[in-house]
Amino acid sequence: MRRSIITGTGSCLPGKILTNDELSAMVDTSDEWITTRTGIRARHIAADGEYTSHLATTAARRALDAAGTRPQDIDLIVLATSTPDQTFPATAATVQAELGITNTCPVFDLQAVCSGFVYALTTADAFLRSGQATRALVIGAETFSRILDWDDRGTCVLFGDGAGAVVLEAGEGRGDVSDRGILAARIHADGRQRDLLYVDGGPSTTQTTGFLRMKGREVFRHAVTRIAEVMKEVMEDAGVSADDIALFVPHQANIRILEGTAKKIGIPSEKVFITLDRHGNTSAASIPLALDEAVRTGRARPGDLLLLEAMGGGFTWGAALIRL
Ligand code: UT7
Repeated sequence: MRRSIITGTGSCLPGKILTNDELSAMVDTSDEWITTRTGIRARHIAADGEYTSHLATTAARRALDAAGTRPQDIDLIVLATSTPDQTFPATAATVQAELGITNTCPVFDLQAVCSGFVYALTTADAFLRSGQATRALVIGAETFSRILDWDDRGTCVLFGDGAGAVVLEAGEGRGDVSDRGILAARIHADGRQRDLLYVDGGPSTTQTTGFLRMKGREVFRHAVTRIAEVMKEVMEDAGVSADDIALFVPHQANIRILEGTAKKIGIPSEKVFITLDRHGNTSAASIPLALDEAVRTGRARPGDLLLLEAMGGGFTWGAALIRL
């Protein structure tokens, strides 16, 4: 059975760090409020002239190095972002050019907000398993600081910038749960909830980029339910139980959501990998950023079964079970 195997991970964070105390000098908030309600202590913010494509290209280079893969051997790039450099062309095209990939492989951006990386992984998996590609770069990259209303304390304290990437390679497996690679992946959407988390601008409507708007409490309520549902789906698809999972690498939105969903599914807190205290919510970049850190620090090792999940604007949500 053809499987999509992660052979390398990489990530990139902007150098500038913005702490809760620094934010407290900008809006009416406090380190105490942000830490207890969200678990976030700091986030990275892109410098002037530092774009989503820059973060994405660096993360991709590091993933290629880790995989021992030459850029020219990549035959698909899927880049998840809601903060592209430009309305078009796709930021993936910039990354392709920056990496020096001249083999004319297909590249595209994918927009599913915070679920973007799970959507991109699922899409690349379908390309690989159908034989339409053999070696993909799957990237999540964002500069959310550019679409934040820095006067809105309800949202500006939550997000940060960054990028993460994986090299995904087709390989043969036995077709059972011992295989390396993506063992199960599911994505969902429900457009009826699009007004709970959105950006109030766009090329067709306002001809401006707009700012992020969110009804936080309602998003929270939906998130816990939807994430738990889709995690159960992928575990059933693959025929595994919570005990089989070595590490839970969730979208890093809110510590209470992560711990709440882990508990619902029966994953102990020591198996929950957390980066949001230092990264904040980096939308599509949060899972691959966390995954790279887990791999590089030895928390995720070859052969480990990982559970990934995310939920975001749309609403969109999804989960994936992967053996490293
Ligand atoms: O990544 C994809 C999706 N996004 C999420 O998953 C986010 C989901 N939602 C959340 O994480 C939480 O709802 C938030 C962290 C956004 C908010 O936490 P909450 O416990 O739901 O607070 P709330 O919005 O109900 O606000 C409670 C109070 C309000 O004051 P009053 O009306 O009770 O007087 C807010 O005005 O906290 C106030 N507040 C703040 N106070 C200090 C809101 N933001 C802040 C702030 N600092 N930054």
